[in-house]
Amino acid sequence: MSSTPVIKCESVYKIFGTNAKKMLQNANGNVDAKSFQDAGCIVGVNNASFEVSKGEMLVVMGLSGSGKSTLLRCISRLTDATGGKIFIEGQDLLAMNERQLIELRRNKMGMVFQSFALLPHKTVLENIAFPLQIKGSKTNESIQKAVEMVELVGLKGRENYFPRELSGGQQQRVGIARSLAVEPDIWFLDEPFSALDPLIRKEMQDEFLRLQGVLNKTILFITHDFDEALRLADRIAIMKDGLIEQLDTPADIVLNPKTEYVRKFTQEVPREKVLKIEAVMDKSSGGQNADNITVSKDAIIETVAEKILSQDKPVSVIDKNNNVVGSVKPSKIIQTVFGQGKEKK
Ligand SMILES: Nc1ncnc2c1ncn2[C@@H]1O[C@H](COP(=O)(O)OP(=O)(O)O)[C@@H](O)[C@H]1O
Ligand SMILES: [Mg+2]
Repeated sequence: MSSTPVIKCESVYKIFGTNAKKMLQNANGNVDAKSFQDAGCIVGVNNASFEVSKGEMLVVMGLSGSGKSTLLRCISRLTDATGGKIFIEGQDLLAMNERQLIELRRNKMGMVFQSFALLPHKTVLENIAFPLQIKGSKTNESIQKAVEMVELVGLKGRENYFPRELSGGQQQRVGIARSLAVEPDIWFLDEPFSALDPLIRKEMQDEFLRLQGVLNKTILFITHDFDEALRLADRIAIMKDGLIEQLDTPADIVLNPKTEYVRKFTQEVPREKVLKIEAVMDKSSGGQNADNITVSKDAIIETVAEKILSQDKPVSVIDKNNNVVGSVKPSKIIQTVFGQGKEKK
């Protein structure tokens, strides 16, 4: 087991403009977006520091123009950060040469964008096999891998369709399959579901969670949709004007918003719909109910509320391996659903 974070950013800045580097140096790390703007610079990312550990999904949430894509582009080094340090599995990203970068992107990183960016004259299978062929894999091996990926994302039977014959959701499944074909350890997704209509989006989110349950990638997922962030994230970074306003678990963001800006997003959120049992359980003991009823620590409260409320004693909370990790009282559920935060509206 290694504790080296897969992604580590230390005071990362990306500032656009001719004098950006010089101005950043003079600012001594204290970048004021407005004065930079007056000087003809645009602050894309302002002093971002965070880590993402193996198997973790960090969702970067912010409105349009808040710097999400720029941050992702710095970390995948599609653009060079103006200042700060970035480490990928402990390796200094900014010190890598062109060859190392190509290696890294081809073998370690997978990317999915909002625009599906499929090749229109290639079939589903050919689109998915394409990055493998670029890597130099044998044709039959790439095709075999592509077949596997098609099945993984639920497109079996559509191998020989062309992109124009697929719905938006299906096209994005191809995009996802293509990015997974090279078996990346790190997965970057920049608003992958934003172009899809709400019902399909929800379906894709479920599908995505299912996939992540199987694949356990280290993920940087970008969205402007707070609900999406809450549904998917292990932790959420909320960005505004290039700054990370708060980086916390969904539960902590909702329960303890640190800034007024973050609070605004959380105000309307029904807690039972976003909080997991883990967020309200009592860690010190197991439950004592007679019926041997248990709930998963990862269950969203709403989905197990009835089960817990059918008991009058605390219910045991278990982890993936069926170990008891705490308990939850029926009264705690009532408090969460009907308690403070509700009267705000
Ligand atoms: N190549 C560029 N040149 C100048 N400004 C840019 C460039 N790319 C992004 N920006 C600016 O940086 C800010 C952040 O943009 P972006 O990262 O695309 O936001 P988001 O992805 O959150 O919508 C915006 O003000 C945008 O106009
Ligand atoms: Mg963007």
